[in-house]
Amino acid sequence: MHYQDVLDEVAAHVAPHIGRGQVAQYIPALAAVDPDRFGIALADVDGNVTGVGDWERPFSVQSISKAFGLALVLAQDGEKLWRRVGREPSGNPFNSLVQLEHENGIPRNPFINAGALVVTDRLHSLTGDASTTMLDFLRAESGNPDLAFDPVVAESESGHGDRNAALAHFMASYGNLDNPVPTVLEHYFWQCSIEMSCRDLALAGGFLARHGLRADGSRLLSRREAKRVNAVMLTCGTYDAAGDFAYRVGLPGKSGVGGGIIAVIPGRCTLCVWSPGLDARGNSVAGVAALDHFTTVTEWSVF
Ligand code: DON
Repeated sequence: MHYQDVLDEVAAHVAPHIGRGQVAQYIPALAAVDPDRFGIALADVDGNVTGVGDWERPFSVQSISKAFGLALVLAQDGEKLWRRVGREPSGNPFNSLVQLEHENGIPRNPFINAGALVVTDRLHSLTGDASTTMLDFLRAESGNPDLAFDPVVAESESGHGDRNAALAHFMASYGNLDNPVPTVLEHYFWQCSIEMSCRDLALAGGFLARHGLRADGSRLLSRREAKRVNAVMLTCGTYDAAGDFAYRVGLPGKSGVGGGIIAVIPGRCTLCVWSPGLDARGNSVAGVAALDHFTTVTEWSVF
């Protein structure tokens, strides 16, 4: 299969969807992003990468960082994480508070904001600097040493972070955070603010397609752990739209309110698509449409 031709065909197909939806408004620095951007990249398991459109233009990774956080904690800490966070879909919005009280401060999964705060807390305890650990990992895997935090986005999110602060304090009241709430929030906001392109993210997510092997051939995750991260991405990676994403795309995926989505075809490749217009559940409209069309034309869903 000629990847460039497939991606060109996908880009042509989704052109009518580009600009649809709403750019995230609740983080003011993200509201300024041009809604008409679209890019898609594919990195095969050998690290060859190809793309179309705005595939080399950096954007805010936001919740896509949660997939990397989960992998980094599983790599160092194994299954112990599951005592502090579940792995069931929440069926609720990514920033919802409602289940936490009934479920004793244990978030449903590592990809809703509450779960990601617990993962960040654990990564911080394990490494002494959660956000820098993630940035260093993403630089190494993408082969792009220029990757950086965006301080404007991090500040913007911190200044409008009451919901995440509420989640963190609530979990702290149940003893489910080891570090002080302001520290956990700071590292969470910084990791969400990392700027990467589709190219960078497709390469950085390569270990998920290589059953846990990093770009340099060393092992980050066992095959079983890589399977588990992909499984949680399939069931929880697009929040209360995970069922629809599985139905349309049929791949493990992780979205972010910056408009990016990574998707994994285990054993074959990692994709990243970006277009900032979001649907009501916080997933890129053109991004989901592109992945839907990609798996339709290639017949490469996991189903
Ligand atoms: O905490 C937040 O709300 C954002 N930093 C990330 C949310 C997000 O990306 C949800 N994904 N679709």
